[in-house]
Formats: sequence, structure tokens, C-alpha cells
Amino acid sequence: MHVINELKNIKNIKIAGLHGHFSTNGRRVTTYAQITQMLCNIVKEYQLPEIEYIDIGGGIYGEVPKSLVKNTPTFEEYAEAVCKIMNTEFNHYKNKPTLILEPGISMVANVFVFAAKVIGTNKVRDHKFVVVDGSVHNIKPVFNKKNLPIKFLRQSSGISRKKESFNIVGYTCMEKDYLAHDVNWYLPQVNDFIIFENVGAYTIVFNPPFI
Ligand SMILES: Cc1ncc(COP(=O)(O)O)c(C=O)c1O
Repeated sequence: MHVINELKNIKNIKIAGLHGHFSTNGRRVTTYAQITQMLCNIVKEYQLPEIEYIDIGGGIYGEVPKSLVKNTPTFEEYAEAVCKIMNTEFNHYKNKPTLILEPGISMVANVFVFAAKVIGTNKVRDHKFVVVDGSVHNIKPVFNKKNLPIKFLRQSSGISRKKESFNIVGYTCMEKDYLAHDVNWYLPQVNDFIIFENVGAYTIVFNPPFI
């Protein structure tokens, strides 16, 4: 924290705000309470009574399909925890600092879907593969194994009556190009569409220029 002391000693520099952005896997309410409390403690410890804003960054959960993560906190629960601390810590301030949030994924993840067209089906030993004209890069550039929520749009009349297990793979030559693993549904046919949901964040913008 020597930076704060150094900045305070420079004429014409005013510390207007504190910013703490952390990405965690849990995205827990308690983590955001901790970040807020830590920033408030810095204000007290380093005597920054003219602080204008406290910025607790992004990384919170938005509306997440239950099949991806169960029991995620609501916006109200985050707000309750964070604002309780802000209100307590700055209760006696004449000019209370503004609370800033930088939500990214929580705002945009569920506003986009990706529609891929089936361009082929294969069977390799006992495994069935549905090949689409998209790639894992379009929907899961971080290659996690969890399947996104999927919908099927049939164009073909010859609907298979039996549900079976298949993988959905992309058009690239990469062995890891799996858009979904072990899906159990009626086998899609060429020209059907497969809709992958919840792809509004950290997806298309990550498309590599290769392939
Ligand atoms: C400084 C900062 N704020 C906010 C965000 C948004 O984070 P998220 O999409 O996890 O909410 C990021 C993402 O990298 C960031 O670097």
C-alpha cells in the first residue's frame, strides 16, 4: 500500500476512488462483502475522507441456467451484502462515495444464442458424432466440459423415434472441437439446426484467427 502514501505526497494528485476487480470461480456473495470491506478499510486506514467512488469490479453471477450452475445468488443478495457495508462505513460522511459495479458476464451471457446447422453425421466404433457448421470456439472458447443448454430445430421429416447418445462436433480439423459431449436426444439430421444458449459472454470475441 506504499503506492497510496506515495500518491498522497504528490501535489496535484488526488485519490478519487478505489477499484477492486477479482474474478473468482465461486462468485460468492461473501467474496463481494470482503472486497467492499477491504476497500472501505483502506479508506479508513489511509485517511481518504474525500473519496468519490468505491468500485468493486465485475465477476458476479447473473441469471444462469440451472443445468449449468445451481443456486446462484441473486442481484438482491449481492446488493444487500455490499450496500450494508457501504451504508455502515460511510454513514457519517457528508459526501458519500458512489458505489460502482462492472458486471460483464452477468449482464450479457443469456442474451445471445448460437445457431449451428448440421452438416453431417458419423459413427466411429460405438460413438455417434453430429458435425455442425460451427465450432467450439463460437460457444465455449475456454473448452469447459459442461454442455450448454441446447435446443433442436428439425428440418427433416425422418425423425428418429429413439433417443440415443451422441457428441456434437465442429467443422474444424481439431480433435478437441466438441460443442457438446454425450447428448441424449433424437439424433439430428443434416440441415437440422442446433441452438446453443447462454453464449453472450466470452465467446465470439475470443474466436481465434486460425481455422
Ligand atoms: C476490470 C474488469 N472489470 C469488469 C470485468 C467484467 O467481469 P465479468 O465479466 O466477470 O463480470 C472485467 C473482465 O475481465 C475486468 O477486467
